[in-house]
Amino acid sequence: MTAQRIYDTVADDFSRVNDLIIKRLSSDVPMVEKIAHYIIESGGKRLRPLLVLLSSRAAGYRQDDHLKLAAVIEFLHTATLLHDDVVDTSDMRRGRSTANARWGNAPSVLVGDFLYARAFQMMVELQNLRIMDVLSHATAVIAEGEVMQLMNVKNPDLDESQYMEVIHNKTAMLFEASSHTGALLAGADNTQEAALKDYGKHLGLAFQLVDDVLDYRGDAEAMGKNVGDDLAEGKTTLPLIYAMERGVEEERQLIRQAIRKGGLDDLPAILGIVESSGALEYTMAKAREQAALAADCLDALPDSPYRESLNLLTELAVARVS
Ligand code: IPE
Ligand code: IPE
Ligand code: MG
Ligand code: MG
Repeated sequence: MTAQRIYDTVADDFSRVNDLIIKRLSSDVPMVEKIAHYIIESGGKRLRPLLVLLSSRAAGYRQDDHLKLAAVIEFLHTATLLHDDVVDTSDMRRGRSTANARWGNAPSVLVGDFLYARAFQMMVELQNLRIMDVLSHATAVIAEGEVMQLMNVKNPDLDESQYMEVIHNKTAMLFEASSHTGALLAGADNTQEAALKDYGKHLGLAFQLVDDVLDYRGDAEAMGKNVGDDLAEGKTTLPLIYAMERGVEEERQLIRQAIRKGGLDDLPAILGIVESSGALEYTMAKAREQAALAADCLDALPDSPYRESLNLLTELAVARVS
């Protein structure tokens, strides 16, 4: 399996990152540990740590700080998930109840804050100002992306370029920061640094585009989160934008109203329109385009098993849709 081959490239490092993540969750406040462990140990693909490990190694890094950097980035990611599930009122994540469904919004928000803070404590230990610069910038941009999306909830007029800006900020930015900081840690030259940074951006865009397709076509069990969440929240994602553009007037109005209303009443009808309009194929084509751009960036790196795994990752990102 492709995924296994990719993880195998850095298998030892990967398990050390997991150990470090668990170790650094410690807190004297039991509720903090409880919720932090709950979400961290429920798994997740650990894609961003994987990116850090592969990027730093692909750029020739030979020491051990990439483990800490990878843990830092998974903490940042997990903090965004805790907050995101509150904002999206989601009740399933990683195959379990979300922390907000189990303990309520307030502890989820506060433990998310704790994870951000712990990430920054560990980041300081890396003693690399350029890495701090990239990660603090990324953290701000992600928050802006989430707020932009929030401001457009139930807005059927969001267009494709605004949508791309939202997903760049909320998702691609952390992928970009993962591969970019991996390069920085390795002391990569300007060309390789820029190539790894762009690689992460394109991979992240592909990843979120696919995620938005899966919200209409996915298998809840495999995803560990519910199908139809985006529509339920009144989120205008590319499949709906395209379906509104291509559909006949009646279909367009139905989608517009469903977005304004939120909820799942119209899901079956909307699924039909999304399928028949070719919106999922269109969104997948956009995802493949981004994955190909990511793969192209890798030409700047020397041949290595790590580069090969980064390349496979671009294929894997778009292979999640059956
Ligand atoms: C979820 O990211 C948030 C998005 C950007 C869609 P992942 O799908 O990487 O989540 P985990 O960490 O594997 O659960
Ligand atoms: C997640 O976006 C992005 C961040 C966590 C910043 P979504 O809301 O689209 O992702 P899921 O579907 O909850 O994983
Ligand atoms: Mg969400
Ligand atoms: Mg969200």
